[in-house]
Amino acid sequence: MTYKEEILQLRKDLEQHNYNYYVLSQPTISDYDFDQMMHRLQDLEAEHPDMADPNSPTQRVGSDLNQQFKQVAHKYPMLSLANTYNEQDVREFYERVSSGLEGEEFEICAEMKYDGLSISLTYIDGQLTQAVTRGDGVQGDDVTANVRTIKSIPLRLKEGSGYPKQFEIRGEILLPWTSFEALNAEREANEEPLFANPRNAASGTLKSQKSELVAQRKLDAYLYYLLGENEPPSLFAAPVSVDFSNGKHYENLQEAKKWGFKISEGMKKCKTLQEVLDFINYWDTERKNLPVATDGIVLKVNSIRQQRHLGYTAKSPRWAIAYKFKAERACTRLNEVTYQVGRTGAVTPVANMNPVQLAGTIVKRASLHNADIINELDLHIGDMVYVEKGGEIIPKVVGVDKEQRTPDLQKVQFISTCPECGATLVRYEGEAAHYCPNDTECPPQIKGRIEHFISRKAMNIDSLGPETVDDFYQRGLIHDIADLYTLNAAQIANFNKNRTISAVKAVNAIKESTQVPFERVVFAIGIRFVGETTAKLLARHFKNMEALQNATLAELMEVEKVGQVVAESIIRYFHDEKNLDILRRLQEAGLQFSLSEEALEGQTDKLAGKSIVISGVFAKHSRDEYKALIEKNGGKNVGSISKNTSFILAGDNMGPAKLEKANKLGVQIIDEDTFLSMIE
Ligand code: IVH
Repeated sequence: MTYKEEILQLRKDLEQHNYNYYVLSQPTISDYDFDQMMHRLQDLEAEHPDMADPNSPTQRVGSDLNQQFKQVAHKYPMLSLANTYNEQDVREFYERVSSGLEGEEFEICAEMKYDGLSISLTYIDGQLTQAVTRGDGVQGDDVTANVRTIKSIPLRLKEGSGYPKQFEIRGEILLPWTSFEALNAEREANEEPLFANPRNAASGTLKSQKSELVAQRKLDAYLYYLLGENEPPSLFAAPVSVDFSNGKHYENLQEAKKWGFKISEGMKKCKTLQEVLDFINYWDTERKNLPVATDGIVLKVNSIRQQRHLGYTAKSPRWAIAYKFKAERACTRLNEVTYQVGRTGAVTPVANMNPVQLAGTIVKRASLHNADIINELDLHIGDMVYVEKGGEIIPKVVGVDKEQRTPDLQKVQFISTCPECGATLVRYEGEAAHYCPNDTECPPQIKGRIEHFISRKAMNIDSLGPETVDDFYQRGLIHDIADLYTLNAAQIANFNKNRTISAVKAVNAIKESTQVPFERVVFAIGIRFVGETTAKLLARHFKNMEALQNATLAELMEVEKVGQVVAESIIRYFHDEKNLDILRRLQEAGLQFSLSEEALEGQTDKLAGKSIVISGVFAKHSRDEYKALIEKNGGKNVGSISKNTSFILAGDNMGPAKLEKANKLGVQIIDEDTFLSMIE
């Protein structure tokens, strides 16, 4: 076999395995074997740059280069569908179609309505050439680089499967429930704002400037609409398996499935209205078992000739309609709006209602999010309100039954002072939430910070908990995190002998916490937006509290994961006299304010400011050891090559994609001996 043949064969095999795994969910080889094949292909491609191809399976990893999206006009506008909400609407649609077709027989294709964001893909000669978002329906963003990372979208169609020379296919990009939940858990741990639902998360991801991030987020795609034109049969073209002008929608999609696309699950051709209604009823509950979010059923006239005959209104086709599932919804009385103050001072309004059954649980409280939402709802105390549990986990108030409102009801006024401490609330520009600015005196903020400080991933003082924090605070024993280190057993036990043992335990645990490493101290002090990982990176970079405190904005932003917002928050923290006082007292109490001897051993600045990529297999140390060596010497180990990469530490069998990129960007490649002599 020539190298050309081998490359082409490997691409074909890897594409098939990708398809088996991501579209069919039925892998036929082990991950290990897959990786071996991928490495072989990467090697061959690096050796033979003439065989480079943007649609090779090796290109699905994305890049960390920033991209700006180009606006592209849609060849055919991306219309939306008219919505219906009940059986009567569906009947009327069916009858409109029937009379529009003057009594001719017709089939309706019923399929899931996916709740993600729509995408239009163009294929020419079996290759993905462009992916464009819906935008305003007339033009959208060219997100091709990001879409290439979505593994269930074929970059190249199955050879000989009968695809047309050029066509567009449209569908929905989604973030599966499991990935959505994992993503939010990670964001919660890092104190980043959570995504309200998978659609927002998918949209935020697809619009990301870094395709590398998109690749990590595991988006999925279902295709549901094929468009194209019939071309005169060419002498060389393979036989085409669809007929765009006289074919049928369902049959076309079955063909598209053979070309390699993932199509709507459970599509059904219905011959009667009853079959349509049965389909809707079945999926109303069954959809909860699907891996992705759906919000309804789409009904389409199956014959393309009949679709053409029915035509379009100004906004949507007459041959299709969306039936939206009812979000699980209940109606109950709003009794009171209360306000919660969080650790950061953010104030959240909460609706307190008469208990009501909703989606299997009894609900009596629902989030109202912020003042704007309360105003939009025009909420009055005593209103009968609609509560929904949709894609979101927390129930929310979505509307008011104004017909039931009596004139005596009072409009809800968002509070202007903090319910906990009385301070005047503030609203920062560009933020929807109100904040209590009184961070040193406002009880839930104080207690919240102390609870964070003692938590497992911070100082891990596990003999204390929220109740003890509350008790100590009520009794005036503690007011901030530094006060913990002044407590003695007699005070804690409140001169009650029965409590002595647990009090001694608590004092010991607090004392032991002085040995918790510096990086966790950085996390524990509660700088806004500094989560566990960021704290670790900051600690390693600056090595002690003083250096961190004196760092400039630019110096902070040199640290991985630290952007403008985080850097500004750190500066703000260290500019606050009250925080500096707490830090002084914590230092006096003996907390670790610098990296330990052990962590510092062998530390140098020899690689300061350098971004280094590790690639290949090494003889003298493992990759992890090299990573540690880079960090010990002040360098930064990064995952992918960019123009900012200082050099690549390369072992044997360096990935060919990396090699090619390094050559293209002129990044130096260094072997392990040279590297070791650099840091000697
Ligand atoms: S067909 C001209 N089929 O719903 C008809 N759309 O308001 C083109 N959607 O923007 C759309 N699932 O993003 C179609 N099975 C499905 C769908 C679907 C979700 C979305 C699509 C569109 C919106 C319609």
